[in-house]
Amino acid sequence: MRKIVMVAALASCGAAMAITDAEIEALIGKMTVEEKVGQLVQLASAGKADGPLSEDATGVALPADVAETVRKGGVGSLIGACGVANFNAFQRIAMNEARVKIPLMVGHDMIHGVMTQAPIPLALSCAWDEKLWYDCGRLIAVETPAKGCNWTFAPMVDMCRDSRWGRIAEGPGQDPYLGGKMGAALVKGIQSRAGALPVAACLKHFAAYGGAEAGRDYNTVEMSESTFRNVYLPPFEDGVRAGALTVMPAFNTLNGVPCSVNKWLLTDILRGHLGFEGFTISDWEGVKECEFDRHGMAETHAGLAVLALAAGMDQDMMSGLYQRELVQLIQDGKVPMSEIDRSVRNILKVKNALGLWENPYIDEAKLASQIDLAAHARLARAIAAKCCVLLKNDNSVLPLEKGARVALVGPGAEDCDSISGTWSAYIENRFEMTLPEGLRGAGVDFTYTPCYDWKKGSVDSDALAAAAAKADVVVAIFGQRGTESGEGWSVLDVALPKVQVEALDALKATGKPVVALLMNGRPLAIPELAEKADAVLEAWCPGTSGGGAIADVLTGKVNPEGRLTTEFPVATGQLPLYYNRLRTGRPTEVSAQYLSCYRDGPFRALYPFGYGLSYTTFAYANEKATVADGTLTLEADVTNTGRVAGVETVQAYTRQMVGVESRPVRELRAWRKVPLAPGETQHVVLNIPVAQLSYWAKDRLVPAAGPMRAWITSDSVSGKTLEFRL
Ligand code: BGC
Repeated sequence: MRKIVMVAALASCGAAMAITDAEIEALIGKMTVEEKVGQLVQLASAGKADGPLSEDATGVALPADVAETVRKGGVGSLIGACGVANFNAFQRIAMNEARVKIPLMVGHDMIHGVMTQAPIPLALSCAWDEKLWYDCGRLIAVETPAKGCNWTFAPMVDMCRDSRWGRIAEGPGQDPYLGGKMGAALVKGIQSRAGALPVAACLKHFAAYGGAEAGRDYNTVEMSESTFRNVYLPPFEDGVRAGALTVMPAFNTLNGVPCSVNKWLLTDILRGHLGFEGFTISDWEGVKECEFDRHGMAETHAGLAVLALAAGMDQDMMSGLYQRELVQLIQDGKVPMSEIDRSVRNILKVKNALGLWENPYIDEAKLASQIDLAAHARLARAIAAKCCVLLKNDNSVLPLEKGARVALVGPGAEDCDSISGTWSAYIENRFEMTLPEGLRGAGVDFTYTPCYDWKKGSVDSDALAAAAAKADVVVAIFGQRGTESGEGWSVLDVALPKVQVEALDALKATGKPVVALLMNGRPLAIPELAEKADAVLEAWCPGTSGGGAIADVLTGKVNPEGRLTTEFPVATGQLPLYYNRLRTGRPTEVSAQYLSCYRDGPFRALYPFGYGLSYTTFAYANEKATVADGTLTLEADVTNTGRVAGVETVQAYTRQMVGVESRPVRELRAWRKVPLAPGETQHVVLNIPVAQLSYWAKDRLVPAAGPMRAWITSDSVSGKTLEFRL
């Protein structure tokens, strides 16, 4: 396994190996202790993306002169885009002036684009389309060097079942099979060598960060080993197999031990079980967060450095702890040189896989020929339109009728932060970005009057009534500002703010059809919209061509095909909420005493995993399950029963009825996106290797056996139940 993984990593970078393994060993042999420790240190580049370097950009652990530290061989990588000229200048110092010539890596969080932004990853996952993730990765690969970086801290493949956690926006939802495929495709795109310098991907946050108790960011994670291995680990396994060159351990504790110093996790699981051969980079000050009065894993920083290195943390992001402590620890014999050499070797191998000895510089001519912002905007627009999820569409109020007069109301229509979402520091591409720009470009006859804010103040009912009076249909924005999800954005309540509910009521009172346009970075509890709006379109934070993409969907130029990858709750009290839950001994559909339910509301999702409508309708017939030669085959005839062409996402689920541990209600096993013309029927066959149905019971992989159920259908709750035995 180990060998295969490293070969895959190199192949995905397509790098001709600039130096051999023997040369890497010779280099390590030549390095002083200080130079070796330098490789294990990441510091701030102290640069803006363009312009001269400033020395106080972050203030943390920043040496007086970054260039001097590079010259001394005192740093292995920098964080923060520093611009092409500065990147190449740093690299020239590393390659020409330092005693041992080791190229630098410069990384930052280009997670859903750089100058051009695709939608946030949660939205991207709703397209159920690996090619789209790959394309997004290539976009990142091309635009990252333009900002003076050759490393991005993406993809985040943390599974999340609780939308109070703001970082749900950054990941691919709650299903490990789908999430793993998406993450792997992004790794391949990022590491495709498409840009002016190869870019490394970074799988994060290892591991189970999305399982933070009560959805509170950075909080404790307690979970069984079975759940860890069945749900939270598989997307990392897929990412490692896809060749991800780096991995970022998470901030949280996992069953009591912080991931940053967790030897079981970073060595036994990551290297032993998953076969990872790249290097690990701590999260921001992650090692330091294990100190005395925080996680409390050692009395001194020196003690922490010993623990983290022994656990398998190769490079220290920004805490300065390795930089300050390791040389002395080696001299005192408290850290074996073999551990330092191991981490240096991991880092040098990744630099070599990127081809950095062969070509350490960003090729400015290639860059100039590649940055085609108009083409990138078109790509981002096409991607964003595919990520929209149509949640409700009574009386086919969407698509908008040609020539219809539209009143656009609500906050955020012209707010670029809401369109672009989290991690959007480097945006330069603004082609039909806002909604008014998009609607104007699509030739829609509309007026825009905000009438209410996201959270504050009250509804301007007069303005709202006046806007509606002159229109045939109202498109009203609901949700959350794009900056209100992402890191550090946990919330107590995912319900719609009061002012938005009041706006909905005021709109209803006008008697005009209401299209609710949701823009948000997390699933929200929206029972009011589900009940009162005529249509609900989830557009998420759709990126720098978001306005154009939404206009494409509203006008029917694009027929929505997105499907949810996390459940939408009825109320915050249902969280955590996930479709692949274990069964209970007291299942129920009704609210009654001594049954597993809530007495004051439903326990099922408002909109389930896999759900999403189209401007057409689909019907399933002749569903069948057969098992032969180690393959489960699910098949069905799927028909487009409506009047326009559309794409159906055919989904396959299974349930194992009896196991050595209780098994989930349903688990996604395969899917296929099927384009269908009006009236067209396709016979869809999904083949699932029986081995894929195996599951972990603690640390034992158990083959699926006995009575099984399966569904080939359009979401995680519908479909005809098919019975078979293994
Ligand atoms: C985040 C990481 C990110 C890092 C560097 C941290 O606060 O948790 O996801 O990669 O900062 O920006």
